[in-house]
Amino acid sequence: MMRLGTAPAEKPRKAGLPRHVAIIMDGNGRWARSRGLPRAEGHRRGVQSIRNIVRHATDIGIEWLTVFGFSSENWSRPADEVSELMGLLKLFIRRDLNELTRGNVRVRIIGGRDNLSGDIAELLIEAEEKTVGNTGLNLVIAFNYGSRDEIARATRAIAAEVAAGRLRSEDITSDLIAARLDTAGMPDPDLIIRTSGEQRLSNFLLWQAAYAEFVFVPDYWPDFDGAAFDRAIDEYLGRERRFGGLPQKGEVI
Ligand code: IPE
Ligand code: IPE
Ligand code: MG
Repeated sequence: MMRLGTAPAEKPRKAGLPRHVAIIMDGNGRWARSRGLPRAEGHRRGVQSIRNIVRHATDIGIEWLTVFGFSSENWSRPADEVSELMGLLKLFIRRDLNELTRGNVRVRIIGGRDNLSGDIAELLIEAEEKTVGNTGLNLVIAFNYGSRDEIARATRAIAAEVAAGRLRSEDITSDLIAARLDTAGMPDPDLIIRTSGEQRLSNFLLWQAAYAEFVFVPDYWPDFDGAAFDRAIDEYLGRERRFGGLPQKGEVI
């Protein structure tokens, strides 16, 4: 179980802290292999890491934390691994939802819902509904998520609105597209961390990552802890973000 304590609604935030941190939690399988353990054990330890990082992000006053739990391409893994990952999601929500609720965490899920089993789809709705009034950390779980799938679903929704005469094609702006994505209403990620040494997005938040800073860390996800999170934040704080403009006045170029 998580121990979030009694999180107040508002935490004092360190200046410049990223508002939204998104994490590609990679390396569970390699963590297990390096210890001669089955991959499933790596996934189980990975869930413990999620608990630690949720608590840490709450403690330091992060507003939004997105974690990539299962991609739309992860269905191509062996059936026993897929069912292990589905089982872990169910266990996580069943065991931790009360604690998350008490810790003032608001849970949201992004990703396709159509091809999920009924019990998982219901649990996802329950997690969102039970925490809807919470005002602390926003925890976004990317599950059955892939950016291309998300953009295709949004495009179909927009096309249906145009076909029904509720929208004109000239009204399709980037803001309108953003408002039809699973992440509608959420700030874009400021910092994307990927563990395990891989340096790719693997179909994660392609649209939303337009101006994100990337930090790639060598640790496998089960080894990623609060100190590693803080190091990634420190690296982010040393970056200069320009958003296509010029450096701020007074900065050396
Ligand atoms: C991340 O660990 C968890 C998921 C993708 C579900 P992996 O299972 O990808 O671990 P590696 O990359 O094989 O080590
Ligand atoms: C990305 O990791 C998906 C998640 C972390 C859930 P993968 O392990 O699936 O990515 P690739 O296959 O190495 O690109
Ligand atoms: Mg991987």
